[in-house]
Amino acid sequence: MRIDVVTLFPEWFEWFASQRHVANAVGLGHELGFVDLRASTPLNAGQVDDTPYGGGAGMVIRVDVVEAALEERYGAAPPPHRTVALSPGGKQFDDALASELAAEPALTLLCGRYEGFDERVNEHLATDVVSVGPYVLSGGEVAAMVVADAVIRKLPGALGHEESVVEESFSEALEGAPEYPHYTRPFEWRGHSVP
Ligand code: ADE
Repeated sequence: MRIDVVTLFPEWFEWFASQRHVANAVGLGHELGFVDLRASTPLNAGQVDDTPYGGGAGMVIRVDVVEAALEERYGAAPPPHRTVALSPGGKQFDDALASELAAEPALTLLCGRYEGFDERVNEHLATDVVSVGPYVLSGGEVAAMVVADAVIRKLPGALGHEESVVEESFSEALEGAPEYPHYTRPFEWRGHSVP
């Protein structure tokens, strides 16, 4: 599959892209790309955000800026595939959604910043609005890494040892039951032995 991350901070993902399971997935022919929102903005001086209509604190990422980035990358906005906007107000990310996304041929992750995206991004450019938890992060980048990580480790061969995906916590194989606890040596540690 191809995963593209649309972000104001593509350099955040250099570390992520270098992780073994991600590098494995790329070695298997999957693709991970980054789109710098500022690189294609139609506004002057790299502007990507604006003050909110109706007032209020903070800045909002403009819909025309996201549209320009998508058009530059795909020749179309919205793209012809699953496009997830990361937002604390979105649908809760879970293992079922990770599996669903891992079955897609392409996935675009839109990382918000400041007060988030103009709502028209969520409504007209994204297919899904997804939250990684009931708390507010400083931007969608870490959330996009959570989603990309959970999706990539489901790609056949990415982990290098297939069984661990099948027996994973929360996977359908265990019907949602938590994974059993793991132990390794030493058998006895400070009076606590392996049951
Ligand atoms: N951006 C800021 N907070 C977030 C969250 N909890 N999930 C997804 N995107 C976010």
